[in-house]
Amino acid sequence: MTTVLVTTATGQIGSALVPMLAERGTTVRAMTRRTPAPGVVDARAEVAVADLDDTGSLRAALDGVDALFLNTPSSQHAAEQQIRAADLAAAAAVRRVVLLSQLAADEDSPVRFLRWHARVERHLGTLPLEVVVLRPNLFLQGLLAIAPAIREHGTLGAPIGDARISMVDTRDIAAVAATVLLDDGHAGAVHTLTGPAAVTHTQAARAIAAATGTPVEFRDLSEARFAAVLDGVLPAWQIDGLLEDYAHYRRGEAAAVDPAVPEILGRPALDLAAFARHHRRAFGG
Ligand SMILES: NC(=O)c1ccc[n+]([C@@H]2O[C@H](COP(=O)([O-])OP(=O)(O)OC[C@H]3O[C@@H](n4cnc5c(N)ncnc54)[C@H](OP(=O)(O)O)[C@@H]3O)[C@@H](O)[C@H]2O)c1
Repeated sequence: MTTVLVTTATGQIGSALVPMLAERGTTVRAMTRRTPAPGVVDARAEVAVADLDDTGSLRAALDGVDALFLNTPSSQHAAEQQIRAADLAAAAAVRRVVLLSQLAADEDSPVRFLRWHARVERHLGTLPLEVVVLRPNLFLQGLLAIAPAIREHGTLGAPIGDARISMVDTRDIAAVAATVLLDDGHAGAVHTLTGPAAVTHTQAARAIAAATGTPVEFRDLSEARFAAVLDGVLPAWQIDGLLEDYAHYRRGEAAAVDPAVPEILGRPALDLAAFARHHRRAFGG
């Protein structure tokens, strides 16, 4: 029986991944920093209370683990957290690590997030581990962060113009992660995960409007306006990083559609309309 440790088990991808692994009959250890309230973590999972910044707790969480889903929230310390966790996994004789990176990770990128993800990928390549890298594109679920503005004002604003992005549903990322954590044949692979089509934010606004039955309009924001809207909501480093991300999207660098999701899952990737229907209540439907 394989034991899988899932970091960010209560997060966007992790919370979808834990039940998928449990469904496959594997032993799932869900990592979280505090004992979760009932119902937060799938009841079939073991809970490991551990912190990525606390080596002792992480070492205990990795004890007896065969495969690790390695992910952290985006932060200024994410690369250090991931490198430390990977080193501890190698020391604990974990066989396989599935790393959550980002589409177009590149140490020479002008986008800070893409630079640090690439640095972690390179480090993992030096360790005695079977590594599978997942490089997802922008999450469709990221639109949920601006659901309050969509509900209240009927607008979806971003500095993106009519650039297309092959946004991906986090449920597909989790499904791919479950497959490559448990099935052989992916060691050394770098899988780019996208949705089935490259879509504009105007199309995203229309899909949400169709799902909710209320009008939603896309507003192309200047970078300065976008930064002003986020000021006080997000820290400065994250706003700067998002501006770099959006410049990358505007250059059309995140528009390609990759076949990895349908090839690995044996079904089409979830699309924008399915995402909007699934989350219509959050958007006011
Ligand atoms: N957003 C996008 O469009 C996008 C696109 C491509 C790649 N990515 C990458 O995706 C990653 C984020 O994935 P995600 O959104 O699924 O994660 P997430 O939801 O932001 O992860 C949040 C979880 O992390 C856990 N956590 C926070 N600090 C921790 C710590 N010190 N130790 C242990 N656990 C901790 C929390 O668990 P507890 O509170 O339960 O402890 C929380 O549930 C980032 O690396 C980002 O660069 C994002």
